[in-house]
Amino acid sequence: MDTEFLKSEILRLKKEKNAVILGHYYQRDEIQELSDYIGDSLALAQRAQQCENDIIVFCGVHFMAETAKILNPTRKVLLPDMEASCSLAESCSAAEFSKFKAEHPDHMVISYVNCTAEIKALSDLICTSGNAEKLVRALPENQKIIFAPDKNLGGYINSVTGRNMLLWNGVCMVHDAMKAEEFLKLKVAHPDAAIIAHPECNSALLKVADFVGSTKAMLNYIKDSGKQKFIVATEPGILYEMRKQCPDKEYLTVASDKSCNCSDCSYMKLNTLEKLYKCLCDESPEITMSDELIEKAKKPIIRMLDMSRELGIIK
Ligand code: 13P
Ligand code: SF4
Repeated sequence: MDTEFLKSEILRLKKEKNAVILGHYYQRDEIQELSDYIGDSLALAQRAQQCENDIIVFCGVHFMAETAKILNPTRKVLLPDMEASCSLAESCSAAEFSKFKAEHPDHMVISYVNCTAEIKALSDLICTSGNAEKLVRALPENQKIIFAPDKNLGGYINSVTGRNMLLWNGVCMVHDAMKAEEFLKLKVAHPDAAIIAHPECNSALLKVADFVGSTKAMLNYIKDSGKQKFIVATEPGILYEMRKQCPDKEYLTVASDKSCNCSDCSYMKLNTLEKLYKCLCDESPEITMSDELIEKAKKPIIRMLDMSRELGIIK
C-alpha cells in the first residue's frame, strides 16, 4: 500500500476511533512521525496513565503495552505486532525468578520495567533507566536488594551508588553487543565528539562513555552540551528525535560507520505502518490480562511513579 495513503488512513482511523498513538524513541521514523507522544519508558508509562482516549495504540514492545494496560485497564490497549518482545523480558521467566526470590527472602525486589507483568507482580518496586539510580539511592543503605532482569543496568547502578545488589543474569541483546573498541575507534577519528551510552550497554563500553543515561537523559545531554558531535551508543531509532531537537549537531554511530542496521532492535522494528494501520482497522491484537495480575503488577509501578514524584524526577 502507498505510504502516504497509509499515513492518512491511520490518522483518519485514529480520529474516528478516539485512539492515541504512543511511540517509543526506538520506533521506525515513520511511526514516530505519526505518534501523538514519543518518549522513553518512563514518560510513556506516565502518559498511558493519563490517557482518556478509548484506545491506546502502543508502538513499542510488549512489556510497554502491558504497562500501559496495567496503568489504564479500562482502555483498549493495542500492540501492532504481538511478537514485539524484548530479550530482557524473555531472559526472566516467572517460574525461575520465583525460585531465585525464594532463595533470598530478606531481599526486596527491584525490577527494571523491561520485564513481563508476571515479574512485575513478583516485585516490590519497578524502575526505568531514567529513574533507577535515584530510586536505589532513596532506599535505606542496609536494604538488601535483588535487581532484575538487566545485569548491565544493575551493575552500573551498583558502580555509581556503591551498593551490592544481587543481579539477575539478563541483558538487552542490542546494547550488550555494542563493543567498546569500536566506539573508541570512532572517538580516535573524532576526538571532539562525546560518547553517550545507554546503561543497558556492557560495562566495558560504559567505562569509556563520556555520558551514561536513559534515552531521555541523552536527549537532554545533547541539548545542553557545548559539543557539536556525539557518538551514540544506543538503538539508532533515537537519532530521529536527536536530529529533530538539535538538527545542527552531528551524530555518529558504529552501525552508520559500517553501513549496516546491526544496532537496530529487531523487536522494536517489527511495528510497521502496515501493521499499525491493520491494528487500528481491526482493533487487534489487543493486550489482555487477568484483573488479579493487573492488580499485583500495578502496585510496584505505582510505587515507582509515587517515589519518582516525591524525588522530583517527574511531575
Ligand atoms: P528507555 O526508553 O527507558 O531509555 O529504555 C530503553 C529501552 O531499551 C527500551 O526498550
Ligand atoms: Fe529490549 Fe533491548 Fe530491544 Fe529495548 S532495545 S526492547 S531492551 S531488546
